[in-house]
Order: sequence, then C-alpha cells, then structure tokens
Amino acid sequence: MLFVCSIIGYKGKSLAAPVLIDSLKRMEYRGYDSVGIATITDGKILVRKGVGKVAEVNKSLELVRMPGLVGIGHTRWATHGGVTGNNAHPHSACTKDIAVVHNGIIENYDALKEELILLGHRFKSQTDSEVIAHLLEAHYSRERNIKQAMIETCNRLKGTYAFVAVFEEGAISGARFDEPLIIGIMDNGYFISSDILGFLKYTDKAIFLDNKDIAIINAGKLELFDFEGLSVKRPTTQVAWELGAAEKGAYAHHTLKEIHEQVRTVIEGISSDNKEKIGTFCNFLTNAKSIYITGSGTSYHSALILKHIFGKFAKIRSETIMSSEFQYIALDSIDETSVLIAISQSGETADVLQSVKAAKQKGAKILSVVNVPTSSLARISDSFLNVNCGPEIGVAATKSFTGQLSVLYNLTDRLCNGCVGIAANKNELMTALNLILAAENNIANMVDIMDDIKDIYILGRSLHYPIALEGALKIKELAYIHAEGIAAGELKHGPLALIDKNTMVVVINPLDATFNDTISSAHEIKARGAIVIGISDKENDLYDHFIKLPKIKETLFPLIEVIPLQTVAYYLALKKNADPDYPRNLAKSVTVK
Ligand code: AGP
Repeated sequence: MLFVCSIIGYKGKSLAAPVLIDSLKRMEYRGYDSVGIATITDGKILVRKGVGKVAEVNKSLELVRMPGLVGIGHTRWATHGGVTGNNAHPHSACTKDIAVVHNGIIENYDALKEELILLGHRFKSQTDSEVIAHLLEAHYSRERNIKQAMIETCNRLKGTYAFVAVFEEGAISGARFDEPLIIGIMDNGYFISSDILGFLKYTDKAIFLDNKDIAIINAGKLELFDFEGLSVKRPTTQVAWELGAAEKGAYAHHTLKEIHEQVRTVIEGISSDNKEKIGTFCNFLTNAKSIYITGSGTSYHSALILKHIFGKFAKIRSETIMSSEFQYIALDSIDETSVLIAISQSGETADVLQSVKAAKQKGAKILSVVNVPTSSLARISDSFLNVNCGPEIGVAATKSFTGQLSVLYNLTDRLCNGCVGIAANKNELMTALNLILAAENNIANMVDIMDDIKDIYILGRSLHYPIALEGALKIKELAYIHAEGIAAGELKHGPLALIDKNTMVVVINPLDATFNDTISSAHEIKARGAIVIGISDKENDLYDHFIKLPKIKETLFPLIEVIPLQTVAYYLALKKNADPDYPRNLAKSVTVK
C-alpha cells in the first residue's frame, strides 16, 4: 500500500496557520489528496480540513485565517479509508482537547478501535490514524500528563509511524517509529516535521529524532525521551540545502527544471566532497567476500549499472537485487564478510531500509549512496556517498538518477585507477550534457506530431539496458502509457510477437560495441511496421525519428542518453494533460511496504 503523508507542527511567536500552510505547500510533493490544520486559540483546538490540494482547501476553508500561535498540519495521500473530508487529518479525540496528524500505518488499529469503542470512544473516520487521538485521550484524561500519555500510547501502537499531537494546554508532542520526524529549532520557537523542507525556510538547525524517540515542545522548551520515559540527547545538525533550490524558478514544472539541472548535478557528483569517503568505500569493497547492491525503482536501475561497471571496469563481482525482493533472495547467503551497497534518493524507502536492517543484523557492512545525508539510510550505514544534487521535488526521479550514476562511475573510476574516464573527461561530459539538453525543442516537436500511442518499447544492450528500463519507467510514471524496457538481444525470445505497426520502439544505439547487434534488432522491428526512434551519435535510414547524441567517451553514454528519454516522457505527459510533477497514484518517497 502506498501511504505517504507530510506532517508539520509549529509553536512560536508568529501566527501558526500561515506558517503551516507555507510549510505544507513545500512538502506537497510527498502526498496531496487532502489537507488539514489544527490551531489553538483561547485554550480551544480548532480543526479545519478538506479534500484537494493545499491551495484549494486553503481557499475554500480559509485555513490561513485560523488564529493561534500553536498548530499542526497535514497533507494526506491515502488509500486507507478513502479520500474524504472526515478521513483527512488532523483527527481529534472525543473531548476535542487533543488533535493528531500521522504518517505511516497502525497495524493493530482494528483491535485498538474495538477496545476504545467499548470504553465509549466515538470514531468519525475510517482511518487507522484516528486511534492515536483516542488512545492519547484515554491516557491523558487520567492525570493530564502529556509525557505519560505519549509513552503509554506509543507502547500500544504496532506498525510504523510518525505522529504529532497538539494538546489544548498549548503543547505539541511527536513520536516516531520507523518513519522520519525532525525538529526544527528557531530562536523563538520550534517546528516538528516529517521533512526538512517543512521548515528549512525558517531555520537550518535540526534535530533528527531516532526511532522510539518522543519530543514535547511546551513552555518554550524541548524535552526528548524514549518509549521507556528515559531522557535522551540528540545532536543538533546544521542542514545545508538552500531552500531556493526547491523553487521552480522560470520553469513550467519542477521536473523540467530538474532535467535541466543535470548539467550541474552530474558534474558535481564527480567533484563533490566524497573523496575521503570513496577511500572508505574502496577499503570495504576490496576486503569483502561478497558484494550485494540494492535499491528500488530508479535507484534499482542505478544498482544494475553499478553491477555492470564494477564487473567490466573494476573486475569486482557483485549481485544486484531489488529491495522488495531482497529478503527472499539474499538473506540466506549474507554474513559478516558481505558488503551491501544501498542506493536511494530519499534514504527513507521502506523496502530499502528493511533490506539494510536485515543485512546489518547478519553482520554485513552497509555502504549507501543517498541524496539526503541526514536520512535514515545514511544514518544506519557504515559509510555513505552523497549524491548532493539538491532537493528533487518532481515525483519521478531525474537528476537524482544521473547524480547517482555520476557518483557510482566516480567510485568505479577510483577502483580501476581511472579506467572509466569520468574524472578525466569532465569537460567533455559537461559539453555533451549541454548539447543533449539543447535537443529539448526537437524532442517536444517530435512528441507533438506523434499519434495516440498505446505501447512503447525501449531497446538497449549492455549498459544501455538499465537505461531502457529507466526510460520506460519515466514514460509509465509521467505519461501513463504502457512502456517496457527490453534487452535488445531478448527481442527474438518473445517480445517480437508484440511488434506491429501500432507500436513505437525507441532504440538506444550509440556507436560502441553494441551498435551492430542493436541495428540488427532495429531491422527486425522495422520489418514488422513499427515506428522506430533512434537515439545515437550515428544516424541511420531505419529511424523514423532521430535523437542525436553528442560524441563522448563511450563508457559515459548512459549519463547522457537517459536525458532524451526523460524529456520524451515529460512532453508525452503534457500532451496527455497529466501533471508531470505529481503523477497520479504515486508519491515521492514510499516509506511503507
Ligand atoms: C522513480 O521515478 C520513482 N518515483 C521511484 O521508482 C523511486 O525511484 C523509488 O521509489 C525509490 O526511491 P528512493 O530512491 O528514494 O529510494
């Protein structure tokens, strides 16, 4: 189940509602089918919530006008309980002296709900989250002790969660178990949020709560303790990202902006401050008896490329397993002589974290490649490399993919004394990235004249095969068109039966060792009447449309050839009137299984 929400709490010197709305807008990319806010005014909790995007709900319910200096807010993206106003958060308890926002899943909510109903609690929604409000109320009503109520509540909940509650007396309290929760510290107040983007405009000082941490913000101070009630200390971190990087600027969509940022982010991936850590990676890798690589979605495609370049250039054998399959395939053979490389943009993907935790328990060393250095994955790894491409807002990964590749190529380059040639060809790579991005208008025109397409196949051999998979994923996500990446050599083993004049086939075919074999595949396709789009540095009469790749050292083609595929997906989305930044049914980071 997909269920990714944003939560935010604020207690400070400004009116809470405008701050909360602003923060929710910045986190909207995580989930966005309903919105709600609770604030405290004159010792009473006021809740307003509704279905729609933040701007829509704000307009209809005037959220921004809600009074009070303390409040919590939530954007919801849910299947659990349907998209209705009642199911939107915050959820209040019966006496209305507590309201709660929640991200995650309460697995034992049925049993808890039954128990609470027997005690006289009345439920207003179909969500699992509402049980948290009633449980808190049941414990809080006894002695009106927030700390005790939070501890007792957390110890009854099963599942994964981060929740924030606001109490009538003016306090905010949050707890986390396997979902992120971060405190933002200002000179005159606090935030508590599921995402640093929720408060980065106001402060760059953050405390990342650990699992089983509870925070209470009351009377101008912050108290941290664990589920046993023992006081805990967590370091304050200075968060580095510029909030400006999360704005769209002159671009129509974040996705288009992020596609264009790749000139900078790919190059920064090579030059970034990973130098020392790459040394640590090399030590772990050269001493390992077995090496596994894992990731989900786009990050899995990066993992496939890493396996390939490790084998081809660094002569290192490794096994790539997608994170959702990891526990079934790899766990029996992993031990303390193993290294697991986990790749993740967010560092919060549940499937990835579960694989890593299981491997760690068996003694494996964990190396990760993340774009969020403060993420859960980075923090449980023995060492991590930072992709450092800035916040990626578009739900579909673009710059984080090429950023990951850049870091992974650089690592492999170090392991084989420069034989991949990414560092040595930095300038050529930058020129090639600029040239391929300049093809945007041609690609837009090409998409514009395409008839209604139902099926797209993308062919690639060797290193180009994971790029074919990634291109197909982009088209599925952004344009809702059936698309498949196929290893070109496999065509004759089955997929050829699907090819006819109604299909469109993209052939990734730069002039390298795969060129001649892929041209043969293109002939087979053309003979069956399909429309063929060639992506290559060498033109061929076979192609109905041609996207020219700039000349570059051939090992580096994957870093540039994916960009026209991202661009095709973006323009296909526009053609279908789909919002490329927020594809339907998807959320940016999938923090539950
Ligand atoms: C890619 O476009 C996706 N939206 C998705 O497949 C994503 O790559 C996957 O969920 C993994 O996310 P992560 O890199 O943050 O772990």
